[in-house]
Amino acid sequence: MKLSPSLLSADFARLYDEARAVEPLADRFHWDVMDGHFVPNLTFGPPVVNALRKRLVLPFDVHLMIDRPLDYALRFDVRADDSIIFHVETTDDPRSVIRSVARIPARVGVTLRPGTPLERLVPFLEEVSLVLVMSVEPGFGGQAFHPDSIGRIRALRDAIGARPIEIAVDGGIHPGNVRSVVDAGADIIVVGSAIFGEPDPLAAATALREAAG
Ligand code: DX5
Ligand code: ZN
Repeated sequence: MKLSPSLLSADFARLYDEARAVEPLADRFHWDVMDGHFVPNLTFGPPVVNALRKRLVLPFDVHLMIDRPLDYALRFDVRADDSIIFHVETTDDPRSVIRSVARIPARVGVTLRPGTPLERLVPFLEEVSLVLVMSVEPGFGGQAFHPDSIGRIRALRDAIGARPIEIAVDGGIHPGNVRSVVDAGADIIVVGSAIFGEPDPLAAATALREAAG
């Protein structure tokens, strides 16, 4: 299991320090980019993520919760082991977004809201490196895990078969349910409030790793 702390629940005045505090137990960092249109919340964009990219070492997963993803997807100074992830609901032509993003040195990921059928992704599995299963409605941290997500992770694992695609799961994960998410087939666990909402984020990350088995 790889742990990807989501800085959405960190103290935005101290993003770098918050990331560094959990770095010993993290494999990647997850950045939630929101536009106030696709989701009813605003966070940060390329200037903030790029400033942190220069100073942090671990790979980044950039989760775009924005309409017209190509307006901004290529403005992130990403590295080859970083990911740019966009929502299939934000475009009529996911394949052309995938191909455009694939021209920069980053992994391409696709994601979808909890209510969007997985079938929407299946035609594109040949061309992506990562699928992010949203286990809450995108937009906010601290929501409850949708129990249906376990079945969706299993179904996606079956659909992926032997292709070299990682499954990340995002939303509502805590020490009490992380094991079931990993057992269902998740490779990357994204966790916001159960790390940065806790008084000791490093201890919280340790607890998550132990609970994941
Ligand atoms: C929600 C974001 C998540 C969020 C998860 O739109 O995509 O990455 O940070 O936060 P928790 O772990 O608190 O559900
Ligand atoms: Zn996210």
